[in-house]
Amino acid sequence: MTDFPERVFSGVQPTGNLHLGNYLGAIKKFVALQENHNCIYCVVDMHAITTWLDPKELATNTREVTAAFIASGIDPEKHIVFNQSQVSEHAELAWIFNCVARMGWLSRMTQFKDKAGKTQEKASVGLFSYPSLMAADILAYRATHVPVGDDQKQHLELTRDIAQKFNNDFGPSIKEKGYGEAFFPLTEPLIEGPATRVMSLRDGSKKMSKSDPSDLSRIVLTDDPDTIAKKFRKAKTDPMPLPDNLEDLKTRPEAENLVNIYAALSETSKEAVLADYAGFEFSKFKPALVELAVEKLAPISSEMHRLQADPGHIDKILSNGADRARVIARETLDAVKDIVGFIR
Ligand code: AMP
Ligand code: TRP
Repeated sequence: MTDFPERVFSGVQPTGNLHLGNYLGAIKKFVALQENHNCIYCVVDMHAITTWLDPKELATNTREVTAAFIASGIDPEKHIVFNQSQVSEHAELAWIFNCVARMGWLSRMTQFKDKAGKTQEKASVGLFSYPSLMAADILAYRATHVPVGDDQKQHLELTRDIAQKFNNDFGPSIKEKGYGEAFFPLTEPLIEGPATRVMSLRDGSKKMSKSDPSDLSRIVLTDDPDTIAKKFRKAKTDPMPLPDNLEDLKTRPEAENLVNIYAALSETSKEAVLADYAGFEFSKFKPALVELAVEKLAPISSEMHRLQADPGHIDKILSNGADRARVIARETLDAVKDIVGFIR
């Protein structure tokens, strides 16, 4: 197997309501990975139009996600931050991957089934082939590591399947053209820690989501301290105090979710949180959680507001990032064209 240099890639859709699950499951990890890796972070606006989105909202949301990246500590100079549609190589590679991926593979994607619901006939073709575009995002940079929340695991397995099938189908051409044994890496998902699946504050069996009709179900990154306090105060819980062990916590999804959130925000484990809070009633634990959440989120929220007041500056960051991303993606696409047999 060819050795690939380590490179991190991840994406977030600009679909509004950026929430605590996005922050703890993804963005906070993006920040930490910058220390020891080359990272590329993308606002995936082409994914965002797989279901209807008002053009004005799309532009605002794209700037909002960019602001959240930077306010959280992503450095767009040392690393690369851009929006997907500015680098058309993603779409080009996605087409080739549409011809590599099988209908059966895509039909098994649970996110498509959830999002399309009972009216699959009316879902866009883009919603169905969404994972091919996601594989193209990652593999245009031959990224080796992808930090995401738990809900993206299946899409990353599909990315590996596509890479593997491309490597096999075009194996002889890859070798003949001098690209080694395998052209694409089998990308590793990075899904770790207590907050890979942050749940709704209203229902511990549903994940926190941008599209939940209830605003009380999620903390959004732009919530002010009073709103954060109100949402945690109203968060659904059970009447028992916090247990002293993980086994008992497992049977109480709402309690487990709040403990996970506390652990992720304070960068400890749930064991450590239980060691401090076992026996506490929610009337005591919730205020501690609010205090922690406000301490961590308020600086991000105010920096986001500051950045969003100057959209021109954000747009410059995105176009500068796109210029740098394009150089890498173009190189991959030129090689892919040679391998596939396209004349260029
Ligand atoms: P999306 O908003 O779907 O583009 O998601 C952006 C990132 O946030 C992806 O890595 C998701 O896996 C992650 N994410 C979304 N919702 C949650 C959640 N409730 N808990 C943890 N991670 C999440
Ligand atoms: N599908 C991801 C989500 O909904 C977003 C995404 C698009 C992505 N392309 C990606 C994530 C590439 C990681 C890598 O959350």
